[in-house]
Amino acid sequence: MPIAIPQSHGLPRIGHMLGLTIDPMAVMQQLHRQFPQIVEVAVPPHTFFVVTDPTLIEEVLVTKQKHFHKDGFLKHHASALFGNGLLSSDGDFWLRQRRMAQPAFHRQRITEYSEIIIAKTAVALAALPHNQPVDILATMMELTLTIVAETLFGAITPRQLHTIGQALHDAMAYFANDPLRDIAASITKLPLHDAKNAAYATAIQALDTVIDEIIADRMSHPSDATDLLGMFLAARDDDDQPMSHTQLRDECKTLFLAGHETTALTLTWSIWLLLRHPDCLQTMQRELTQVIGDRLPNMADIPNLVYTEQVIREAMHLYPPAYTIARSCIADVTIGDYVIPAGKDVTLSQYAMHRDPRWYDQPDAFIPTRWSESFKAQLPKYAYFPFGGGPRLCIGQQFALIEATLILAMVVRHGDWQLIPWQRVVPLTAITLRPKRGVMVQIHRRA
Ligand code: HEM
Repeated sequence: MPIAIPQSHGLPRIGHMLGLTIDPMAVMQQLHRQFPQIVEVAVPPHTFFVVTDPTLIEEVLVTKQKHFHKDGFLKHHASALFGNGLLSSDGDFWLRQRRMAQPAFHRQRITEYSEIIIAKTAVALAALPHNQPVDILATMMELTLTIVAETLFGAITPRQLHTIGQALHDAMAYFANDPLRDIAASITKLPLHDAKNAAYATAIQALDTVIDEIIADRMSHPSDATDLLGMFLAARDDDDQPMSHTQLRDECKTLFLAGHETTALTLTWSIWLLLRHPDCLQTMQRELTQVIGDRLPNMADIPNLVYTEQVIREAMHLYPPAYTIARSCIADVTIGDYVIPAGKDVTLSQYAMHRDPRWYDQPDAFIPTRWSESFKAQLPKYAYFPFGGGPRLCIGQQFALIEATLILAMVVRHGDWQLIPWQRVVPLTAITLRPKRGVMVQIHRRA
């Protein structure tokens, strides 16, 4: 017998609009405390469901995934950025594209990428100034973008890379939470977002132009390169037709963005957390001395970097770069004892789940060692899901984890890092969860 889904109406007329605009993560957590499994949330004239129970999340992502498609936000609001690429497409079309891209993410390929990761990280770290403020977020964004460009798209010029980095940065600013402006715009109906919209359009235009250029370069110099771009160009459908130009561009934009931003954020949050917890930093330094000594790390070290892996896992536990996953229900479906009607949107909140005291002691504290084998074995599968799950599980999960481990190890070995005092590191919800003004550090040469 289906159970009625509880509702949370919020304030008269505006529902939860204000709270979700100002601090969506706090609202998700508060709703989750009040309604531990599922709740229908009002944002007039619509409502959507927030699901925060591991079993129900598993049904949405895995067992009943056929009833859900990607949500309207990705398909409409962010369509200039993602188009119909891997992140936002659905159904048979998505499956075909995913199968085409999959070989670029096989373990053997990632082993090859690891050498690029190490070489690029060494160069980036050597270029950092000593005893001067450095924004670690900007540094990690640039590094991970360079790595994704070289591993998946082959050689692209420094100018092209710079344009892509800047355009993605500007495009992401469009999605950053801007509560005062959003509320003022909706009350006054004034065009307060015109400048922001124009900057977004300019960024997308710049991105499209440079990606078209990269594709044209490769097509005019055919090679047997087996990177992802080479695979996309060689692909033929059942009618022996190549991928359309627009589709190729959408896939490239998606992979440039999805392939660098979240890993850079994981690294930034990890470094910030380590610098705030010197005891954890020391534990990690001891592990690195033992496992790596004075040489550079490599793929073979990864199974032995147990604590380093726990640090990364714990950073994604507290600050999951993808902090929510949204779906749109395409046909009535029952999850648990609840009926989700077709047409409704469903939000799964990693942030709320990861800080749920039902599964985590001291859920807000940074405790890398909580990730023991026995803890992982008893944790419900979808109480921790930074990479999503089911068929839409992040295609770059292994790539990201190996990349983050190697880079974090090299960063920690590089010098004595200190946080610039008095800065307030504030999480900002854009498409991803990022430190609003970056994280400023100083590096001192190690004696
Ligand atoms: C720590 C780093 C990363 C995190 C936390 C992360 C997180 C996620 C999540 C949660 C999803 C699922 C979204 C959904 O179900 O709606 C996803 C999908 C995806 N990710 Fe990642 N990601 C990371 C790194 C990467 C990397 C390195 C790449 C590529 C090089 C990548 C490429 C993608 C793509 C293409 C998809 C869409 C897959 C599909 O639907 O078939 N991600 N990611």
